[in-house]
Amino acid sequence: MSNTLAPLKGQANMPNYDEARANFSWKEVEKDFSWHKTGKVNMAYETIDRHAETWRKNKVALYYSDDDRDEKYTFQDMKFLSNQFGNVLRNIGIEKGERVFLFMPRSPELYISLIGTLKIGAIVGPLFEAFMEQAVRDRLENSDASVLITTSDLLPRVPYKELPHLKHIILADEGDAPDVDKDTTFHRYELEMSKASSDLDIEWVDREDGMILHYTSGSTGKPKGILHVHNAMLQQYQTAKWILDLKEDDIYWCTADPGWVTGTSYGIFGPWLNGTSNLIRGGRFSPENWYGTIEKYKVTVWLSAPTAFRKLMAIGDDATKDFDLNSLRHVLSVGEPLNAEVIHWGTKVYNLRIHDHWWMTETGGIIIANYPSMPMKPGSMGKPFPGIHAAILDNEGNELPPGQMGKLSVKSGWPSMLRNVWKNEERFNKYFPVKGFFESGDLASKDEDGYFWFEGRDDDVIQTSGERVGPFEVESKLVEHPSVAEAAVIGKPDPVRGELIKAFVALKDGYTESEELQEELRLFVKKGLAAHAAPREIEIRDFLPKTRSGKIMRRVLKAWDLDLPTGDLSTMEE
Ligand code: WT7
Repeated sequence: MSNTLAPLKGQANMPNYDEARANFSWKEVEKDFSWHKTGKVNMAYETIDRHAETWRKNKVALYYSDDDRDEKYTFQDMKFLSNQFGNVLRNIGIEKGERVFLFMPRSPELYISLIGTLKIGAIVGPLFEAFMEQAVRDRLENSDASVLITTSDLLPRVPYKELPHLKHIILADEGDAPDVDKDTTFHRYELEMSKASSDLDIEWVDREDGMILHYTSGSTGKPKGILHVHNAMLQQYQTAKWILDLKEDDIYWCTADPGWVTGTSYGIFGPWLNGTSNLIRGGRFSPENWYGTIEKYKVTVWLSAPTAFRKLMAIGDDATKDFDLNSLRHVLSVGEPLNAEVIHWGTKVYNLRIHDHWWMTETGGIIIANYPSMPMKPGSMGKPFPGIHAAILDNEGNELPPGQMGKLSVKSGWPSMLRNVWKNEERFNKYFPVKGFFESGDLASKDEDGYFWFEGRDDDVIQTSGERVGPFEVESKLVEHPSVAEAAVIGKPDPVRGELIKAFVALKDGYTESEELQEELRLFVKKGLAAHAAPREIEIRDFLPKTRSGKIMRRVLKAWDLDLPTGDLSTMEE
């Protein structure tokens, strides 16, 4: 193999890929959990309480830091606080299976609430704090959430009066609360916590019971509620052990927000299932902040996204010289393709390989990865996790030979696989067009050595700065504006963001193109949906290409925009 990077020095938790693959069994992994014998399962118990019952009770579970706060919580602290929060929910009558949503900035309270919710067997739904009203409404409406934990700052974006199922709102800060509403009761986090006992009988659930709902965007329709179950812990535990390579003395930092699946599977579950000290950093990204955080906490294992690495690369290597980054021993990247260029830069400035790996909201855990012990081919996502079969399929479901691009698919039945799309069985079934295989929607190829290479999305979903944006959501918002007749949104390759959002807009009669109007449209999406969903480029056009059935042909716009061949135009209207 030419152009490979040698494995890390030192002993990796997974010594040899081929051996691990040959001997792997999920049944063996089960033996690391007490439910193997007791039959009693709960993710919250396995992440927190079981460590609080051992010598790890005084080990730091959570280091939390932002511009105002700097705190630490041991596993024992987390056990008692999450018990209290579980009791807060029980005291207001919340039961197993109900949906409890979190809409708040990163803070210890967010993590305590999330674990506490799981302890009573309720299903947790974390939302990005950047969401605006429409995005919040869609998710709370679809999930019929009965409780929301939020802050007074974010409350104006919660249309609670129009959400009949939302019976309780818990405010985690001290800001103003509205007067009593006839259908919604407001509570204060601090006050309720102070009244709640720190003793709690955990709700033991079935491995297949619902645990977490992550909403994700597709190319059409409203966001989908991807349901994961407690059984996901098997995969999150073992992948964190072998891919994140977590060891007892590690200080682990995952930069992702829990509104995104990376921020839960590998920002909460993976590390805590392994009893690892987990650093959470609130606030905004800045290179000084980030390198300063690594230096201050002596971070050893760091997981981030290609956009972050590209930004750090863009500010120049000198920035690293002002900080001591020697504590780092393992660096990982996920969410979008990691350019080989960035990996080579990483080996220069960090003296470490950046380990790319692939998965998605629907897979609940890592599927393909570069392992610390494995030679790396920069630009490749790596190889499937032991115990998981990933394949490149053609349209009929046949496995393609090495070198050919096809649909990246996963043999169904891995432990953290999605179990449903909330209230949408039909959409769930669409993930399995070929019997026995989950279809990811990504295109990829596999080489002679078994390494997988990402080629692109099969549909129109946009991946911008590590966030997945459905063109449909942005288009829907744009056409709400009085000036907009039609809108089509595409992802355009961008060196820093991966893709940037570009909107094509046809105006209604009586409106004319202007800089101000473009700016207004941008703001309209920013305020109505989310800042990261606002189009960076807007092009006004007389008409948009459509199929005869009226579907806007995004791929045609994309081809025109990038000067590429348009492909089959047979379905396009005159
Ligand atoms: C989509 C999933 C990673 C979990 C959180 C994001 C893209 C993800 C890679 C990678 C190229 C990647 C895919 C995938 N993606 N990782 N290593 N290389 N593309 O989950 O929001 O559900 O997005 O992100 O297109 O389908 P998500």
